Amino acid sequence: MSDLDRDSITVEALRQMASTPDPRLREVVTAAVRHLHDFARDVNLTPDEWLTGIAFLTAVGQNCSAVRQEFILLSDVLGLSRLVNVMHDHAGREAAGTETSLLGPFFREQAPEFQLGESLIRHPTGGMEVCLFGQVTDADGKAIPHAEIDAWQTNAEGLYDLQMGDAGSMDMRGRFRADAEGRFHFRTVRPLGYSIPMDGPVGRLVKDQRRHGMRPSHIHILVQATGFRDLVTALYFGDDPNIESDTVFGVSRSLVVMAEPGLAGNPRPDLPGVRYDFRLSRRGANDSGGRVGADPSRMMPAAE
Ligand code: BEZ
Ligand code: FE
Repeated sequence: MSDLDRDSITVEALRQMASTPDPRLREVVTAAVRHLHDFARDVNLTPDEWLTGIAFLTAVGQNCSAVRQEFILLSDVLGLSRLVNVMHDHAGREAAGTETSLLGPFFREQAPEFQLGESLIRHPTGGMEVCLFGQVTDADGKAIPHAEIDAWQTNAEGLYDLQMGDAGSMDMRGRFRADAEGRFHFRTVRPLGYSIPMDGPVGRLVKDQRRHGMRPSHIHILVQATGFRDLVTALYFGDDPNIESDTVFGVSRSLVVMAEPGLAGNPRPDLPGVRYDFRLSRRGANDSGGRVGADPSRMMPAAE
């Protein structure tokens, strides 16, 4: 037996783990151990700092509940969720569709169904009404008929329904079905940007980093059609003050929109329009097609 020093401990840990029969588990865990040991050596981690890290992760776990996933929030503010999204976007699909964005913690299954042209807003609380319209196509621009479009957002004060008095009832969210040419339009109010939950350990970290904790104004979108990958994305309003510094790194240039009066093709010319065409990627042969993001059923209360 040889004594373990600051380098040989890594070799020995990896040697013991080499017996892992599942090849992917072996690959992922041994890489994680290598990087963790390198990290500890890099920063010369002290026992006190190690304990502080353990206490932080413990608090993250203790702040998880049926309605809150603090670990996913941690992954979001560290940029890991975005990194996994970006890698998934480019893996195993045939042609590029609309860029994805984070699903976020406020998605709910079985949102109310609306007819094209109706408003997402059931109980208006003010704000600028806009019409969001466009077409759902494949990556080559060919129309996909009757795709299901889920949209959810905050109100003009930056609150999701789940953060309001009666969290049991759904508002500012809904499902639409595009027409036979893939065209859709619905009305909504321009949402306000909002802060990620700052009252837990992840929020404390963000404050310690002197980051603002805000997400720019956005409308979440999920588009689903048979034979295509689910598209989880969001449209971001380009004139939001935090458009360049989203705390969870969800913004891509291709997802930035503006509400414009007099926009050509707006089925509601009396309202400012936002036009966006969603392009879905066909599922490849080895494509699980899975949604990137949290599994909301594990985080959110059952729908009404
Ligand atoms: C959201 O867009 O709803 C969101 C995403 C990540 C963390 C917090 C909120
Ligand atoms: Fe959001």
